Amino acid sequence: MWNTCPGLFKSVFRDNQVFHVEHETHFAQKSEPLTGMCIAFEVRIALCCEWLWNPPTIKMGRVIAVANQKGGVGKTTTAINLAASFAAAEVNTLLIDCDPQSNASSGLGFVKDPERVSTYHLLMGAAEADEALQTTELEQLWLIPSHKNLIGANLELVEAERREFRLRDALAAVRERFQFVVLDCPPALDLLTLNALVAADTVLIPMQGEYFALEGISELLDTIERIRAGLNPELAIEGVVLTMFDDRTNLAQQVMGELKKFFGEKLCATCVPRNIRLAEAPSHGKAALVYDPRSKGAESYIRLAKEIIGHYGPAELGVQAPGEQPAAEMDKSA
Ligand SMILES: Nc1ncnc2c1ncn2[C@@H]1O[C@H](COP(=O)(O)OP(=O)(O)OP(=O)(O)O)[C@@H](O)[C@H]1O
Ligand SMILES: [Mg+2]
Repeated sequence: MWNTCPGLFKSVFRDNQVFHVEHETHFAQKSEPLTGMCIAFEVRIALCCEWLWNPPTIKMGRVIAVANQKGGVGKTTTAINLAASFAAAEVNTLLIDCDPQSNASSGLGFVKDPERVSTYHLLMGAAEADEALQTTELEQLWLIPSHKNLIGANLELVEAERREFRLRDALAAVRERFQFVVLDCPPALDLLTLNALVAADTVLIPMQGEYFALEGISELLDTIERIRAGLNPELAIEGVVLTMFDDRTNLAQQVMGELKKFFGEKLCATCVPRNIRLAEAPSHGKAALVYDPRSKGAESYIRLAKEIIGHYGPAELGVQAPGEQPAAEMDKSA
């Protein structure tokens, strides 16, 4: 656990298959086929140093909604790989699939199962978040999966009490166990996205580096403003991240320039390149850093995780004090 280091880093995989590396050795092994994980170790070392200077306090995890009503811009790819990168940096992370398409669930190898407790049950008040937690291949990553029945929640909740607060209320019971909770939103500004934005502390907006990148963004920003004005005054923008970026084209450079003018400091320094490994990994049910840790795609998401972790101090992230039971030790059968 990075919160009990320096000195010991254990494998980030449940079955100890690949990345069992002592931190003393990793800098000497930069050329080994573990470049992506080396970056993750650097994140951990930076966090350990900060932890030593800033005594930790227990706070609730940061909830980041990955949202953009535009389809196919890389929300799910970002949600899966950002969450996996947080977990690889030994930060307890929960990924919640809030999309009836269930791509975040299948992308982590969860086959469709209507009987499994899912986001639908949380929103309908039919189950507690605790019952919905699924362990994953990464030791510090949990998933609350989705199923296509979630589409019904949009209609079934219309008349319900506190319909916009369902996810926020459900999350309250488990939130403090995680440093980050990542919400993968559907491509719509519907009640599901509204629930995610009300439950969230911040929104991360993936945008494709293309000519129509800014199309529809004012609608999303208006929605965020309206939520701030009423349902969730604390909601902030975590950042805007360029996805499927190809820096060799003039168009991509121009789009980046436009986005920089529009979003200023909110445009993440990390751009995610177009990378075939990112597209292949979900069909193997794996995050890119498990499927191919050396790929440019996996590395870029590890950098993005590092950038976002850098927005917060360890104290803000609710680092557990020594002796506290870490979420990694939670009931594995959850
Ligand atoms: N950086 C990338 N490089 C290559 N392919 C990518 C990249 N990011 C995403 N893709 C691919 O683009 C497609 C759309 O990505 P993704 O599913 O993440 O978008 P989305 O915004 O979640 O879509 P939806 O709006 O339908 O939920 C997928 O096939 C995915 O594998
Ligand atoms: Mg998606």
